[in-house]
Amino acid sequence: MNDLRVKIITYGCQMNEYDSHLVASELAARGAHFVETVEEANFVLVNTCAVRGKPVEKVKSLLGQLRKEKQRRGGHFVIGMMGCLASLEEGQAIARDFGVDVLLGAGAIHKIGEALEKLEPFWDVGFYPELDEVVPPPPAGALSAYVTLIRGCDHHCTYCVVPRTRGPEVSRHPELVLREVEQLVAAGVVEITLLGQNVNSYGKDDPSYPDFADLIRQVAALGVRRLRFVTSHPMNFSDRIIEAIAETPAVGQYVHLPVQSGSDRILRRMAREYRRDYYLERVARLREALPGLVLTTDIIVGFPGETEEDFQQTLDLYDEVGFDAAYMFAYSARPGTPSYERFEDLPREVKIERLERLIEKQKHWSLERNRAWIGREVEVLVRGPAKEEHWALGHDQSNHPVLLPVAEVAGPGLYRARIEEASPHMLFGKVLEPALAGSVNP
Ligand code: 5AD
Ligand code: SF4
Repeated sequence: MNDLRVKIITYGCQMNEYDSHLVASELAARGAHFVETVEEANFVLVNTCAVRGKPVEKVKSLLGQLRKEKQRRGGHFVIGMMGCLASLEEGQAIARDFGVDVLLGAGAIHKIGEALEKLEPFWDVGFYPELDEVVPPPPAGALSAYVTLIRGCDHHCTYCVVPRTRGPEVSRHPELVLREVEQLVAAGVVEITLLGQNVNSYGKDDPSYPDFADLIRQVAALGVRRLRFVTSHPMNFSDRIIEAIAETPAVGQYVHLPVQSGSDRILRRMAREYRRDYYLERVARLREALPGLVLTTDIIVGFPGETEEDFQQTLDLYDEVGFDAAYMFAYSARPGTPSYERFEDLPREVKIERLERLIEKQKHWSLERNRAWIGREVEVLVRGPAKEEHWALGHDQSNHPVLLPVAEVAGPGLYRARIEEASPHMLFGKVLEPALAGSVNP
């Protein structure tokens, strides 16, 4: 692997960002150099997402460009594809079309070193328990980092490819998780996000492991200043977990709890296991224990068979809960999923029109909820300059994106700030003081 110049391009969720970091660490340990552009690279690795049609289209168009680059260089250019799309036959067909040399499914990404040592195409779509034993080193200079707790998903929501791309739930050994957290804290990381498709299923697959509620307490005891986790499933979001959040100051009062639909009929068709009343009861319990709760969700509109009345129930549920923010998606029929096989897709116009109405509702509530923060003091973890000129971008303990005047910020770090303005998507603050001595890297 002499003179390996690598560019990794990551699509999709936070699990993919973590996986890209894991793979980058494996490559760095083998002497790879990382470059900014495709032109400088001789190995480009695309970490893919397959959850909806759109990210698949993006991967295809990127692979088209990479295929041209490979032709331009007379074949002296390696194209890699990893992650969820690589795990699916759909992705493997795409990989063949575009001349991908190295293909690693989401459960085989630790094989990257082995893949590059062989001077021939390398494909592996297995799921290997050793993957969970890899403890990637802290990302250099980062204040915020991810730690994977559990891979895979044992639910079988009918629209979702994840159970096939990431396999069944496998919790990482708690000692590995705690060791990784310890190393991050020692390296100066102030915020850790625990990751899993269903973090609250942690430990269910091994009775000798702590459950998620206990693990939260154990991780927090290692001295991490801020602790977050995504994603949770309403089904096993137990009172024990709610208590653990309430009793652990490092965990902000922030929960992302995907509801997907407000209609029982659609929830049943989605095989979501719970019903609207159950979700509302969990929210009530959360708000009782966490009075300052910031609650976000995922919603799919236009699921097959969704009537105007079903959709109204989603809008009503939104009003009843008043989510702080939501990720909203038009249903995308994914080949191989039960809903793709069994149900007929609604017309695109119907889905788009409903999505637009839901977005209006979300804007209304997000503005309402964000305005309640005006005048409050928060702690902002600044990452760097914002897209908006003269502002720096960060997020507070409850995960609101917060803009602070760039002139008041010395660099990435923690700042105490007062919120002065709010839009549906952002809070705007004024810096009171750097919050943690030594955390500001000029
Ligand atoms: N179509 C639209 N949205 C989907 N999601 C998952 N699968 C699909 C699909 N086929 C959404 C869900 C999930 C989020 C990560 O992506 O809302 O919570
Ligand atoms: Fe997909 Fe449902 Fe599992 Fe989430 S819980 S990853 S939506 S199958």
